[in-house]
Amino acid sequence: MTEPASDLSTSARKAICDALNQCVAETAVTTMLAQNFHWNVTGMAFGPLHAQFQEIYEDHFTAQDDLAERIKALQGHAEGMLESMLKRSKVEEHDGHADDKTMIAALVKAQETLSASLAGAGELAAKSGDTVTEDLCIDRGRTHDKFAWLLRAHIQ
Ligand SMILES: [Fe+2]
Repeated sequence: MTEPASDLSTSARKAICDALNQCVAETAVTTMLAQNFHWNVTGMAFGPLHAQFQEIYEDHFTAQDDLAERIKALQGHAEGMLESMLKRSKVEEHDGHADDKTMIAALVKAQETLSASLAGAGELAAKSGDTVTEDLCIDRGRTHDKFAWLLRAHIQ
């Protein structure tokens, strides 16, 4: 049964917001990762990779806002400090000194991590009947799975 945000218990909202903050953090770190690679990628595939990385960071920039605003709809606190995001995130930063294949592999891993975190957040939301958050997580999971495929296809 679908529970509107206002009917969710305080503890359910807290747990869902924590899971969503994890997703916001990892989305933000991956946004920067993709932009870093957009700037620093080199090689014969520069053009398409430069464009592909841009598509990813633009998508993620919008997504982190959607996820954070869902936290606000659940009356939680959207954690917006880079320091805390980095501490939380299972996606790691990269210094941008790498060949194109290494960059792609790092972004595939980031997409898979995001997909897993969003699946976890979606399941948690579903348990409390928060199907609106579940829907957002499923939608984001689909996008990350697609990006993982688009990236992976370059290096298989
Ligand atoms: Fe650019």
